[in-house]
Amino acid sequence: MRRIVMLVLIAAAALAAEPARPAEEPVTFGDQISRVLQAHCQTCHRPEGGAPFSLLTYQDAYLWRQQIHVATQARRMPPWKPVAGHGDFAEVRRLSDTDLALIARWVKAGAPEGDPARLPPPRTFPPTWTLGQPGLVLEMDEAYTVAAGAGDVYRCFTLPTRYSYDLYLSAVEVIPGNKKIVHHVLTYLDTTGASLALDRADPGPGYTCFGGPGFAATGGLGGWAPGAPPLVMPSDVGVFLPAGARVVAQVHYNNRSERAETDRTRIGLHFIRQPVDKRLRVVPVLNRGFVIPAGAARHEVRASWTVPLAWNLHTIGIAPHMHLLGREMKVTATYPDGTVRPLIYIDDWDFNWQGAYTFARPIPLPGGTRIDVQAIYDNSADNPRQPNRPPRPVGWGEGTTDEMCIAFLRVTVDSERLGARPR
Ligand code: HEC
Repeated sequence: MRRIVMLVLIAAAALAAEPARPAEEPVTFGDQISRVLQAHCQTCHRPEGGAPFSLLTYQDAYLWRQQIHVATQARRMPPWKPVAGHGDFAEVRRLSDTDLALIARWVKAGAPEGDPARLPPPRTFPPTWTLGQPGLVLEMDEAYTVAAGAGDVYRCFTLPTRYSYDLYLSAVEVIPGNKKIVHHVLTYLDTTGASLALDRADPGPGYTCFGGPGFAATGGLGGWAPGAPPLVMPSDVGVFLPAGARVVAQVHYNNRSERAETDRTRIGLHFIRQPVDKRLRVVPVLNRGFVIPAGAARHEVRASWTVPLAWNLHTIGIAPHMHLLGREMKVTATYPDGTVRPLIYIDDWDFNWQGAYTFARPIPLPGGTRIDVQAIYDNSADNPRQPNRPPRPVGWGEGTTDEMCIAFLRVTVDSERLGARPR
């Protein structure tokens, strides 16, 4: 009897401690999960999206349910590197806590399909050129073949534009030719013909390159990575394309399959039709004079740049750049009155997911503002991405086994009024 009283008391105490929760609404694919996948996964997880498998149907989602649970809980998917609270970006790829909880409850409940009649209409995706047919399409002369099982291959292709006058671009869209092997693409402008000499010195289409194009580029035209939007300028800003410039596409291929694969990547240029006020400028805030000691697990490298007093700038985007040893990068703006504004913080750098990030709104950088870059490198033998076995001291360079420390700021000059006429 005493035991029964005790048990009743314990049960009552437990009930008191945990008030009865309202029964949770069941989570099904038809009702909620299809909508989460449409909104946050299908830009990449569809046949033409660049991810290795689709998440379009219930069968897809059911098959991948455990991996979906693990990858979303770990915030590995959707891929989005900037830490929340450091910088305010356009097109943020982050699941809300609500969506994260929905996925967890759905998988725990056995990933039920629910009522197919409740499915939303399928999401439609734009055709190949999401911005419409470009004014000029640059394409590799011949397809490049990546051998079966080649793994990572970094190759630069030099593409002539052949205009005898300067032009401005409103947008650039890069379309990989073969998404099975194209991992990402970066572009550079060559106004000296240096890339042609590099191409001629290397047999086969293009030439080998890793951390840059192998020459001092005068700018870039954005790039491609799965799910990344094309480079689009604000309405009064143009990307300068000097007469006779070559566009160099650096393509990171990855072929683990047992078949050779070929690629012809294309770059679509959209020319500006209305007068352009401002030219997009890229400021590399960098440090070239560092050495990361062999074995150092957390080595800090800093770089700074101060906006000259005579200039007032706005920054519209930022692209951190390091190689394989990079682990973290934090960039801040310190205003003349001492206020510090975070621009970006990446706490889990991955060379394979380097992005160019556009700010939600242009950020003012008045004259005298100091930009500080703080980068952390892991040059220990324990770093799984360590390219040197055993580790050796590492400094600046373009090779796989060298490092870089750069934050590229995309800026405009407030007082600039070009008034350039369209062609
Ligand atoms: C920006 C493109 C992109 C988006 C958006 C995206 N993925 Fe992925 N996903 C990839 C790529 C690319 C891979 C291949 C692995 C890699 O390269 O990291 C991948 C791999 C995966 C994997 C297997 C590898 C792993 O890390 O477990 C899962 C599971 C996954 N994605 C789930 C999702 C889910 C669920 C969403 C939406 C909530 C999503 N992904 C959104 C591009 C994307």
